[in-house]
Amino acid sequence: MSHELFEVAREAMARAYAPYSKFPVGAAIRADDGSVYVGANIENISFPQGWCAEPTAIGAMIMGGGNRIEEIAVIAEKLPLCTPCGGCRQKIAEFASADTRIYLCDDQGVQKTVTMAELLPYAFETDVIG
Ligand code: THU
Repeated sequence: MSHELFEVAREAMARAYAPYSKFPVGAAIRADDGSVYVGANIENISFPQGWCAEPTAIGAMIMGGGNRIEEIAVIAEKLPLCTPCGGCRQKIAEFASADTRIYLCDDQGVQKTVTMAELLPYAFETDVIG
């Protein structure tokens, strides 16, 4: 299951639009609806306007009818074990649980598996909002 997610994340990475950083990233989510949703980073000539692979995949999941992230794979061709950036950790956490698995990949497959709680300890959460 994790290897399948790795393979689709790698395919998604090929669709990255990263002409400025030249650092393609791919992400693949298996959601609670059983579907797999993918994303790649999409940059912009106004640099801060670009965004990461993970939110692309999250957007695809939400618009495709998924609600929760069961597991997610992330891959960057130039960095074995590309851990999601800080902002992406918060974005993933919104749709994940403490034990949700995040697969960190290189071009061969999953190299390390971490949980959401390991990736984002002391996550911001409160019942005061919402
Ligand atoms: N990037 C991602 O897509 N995900 C991450 O978690 C880390 C960084 C992208 C953003 C930018 O397009 C490129 O990698 C270089 O930072």
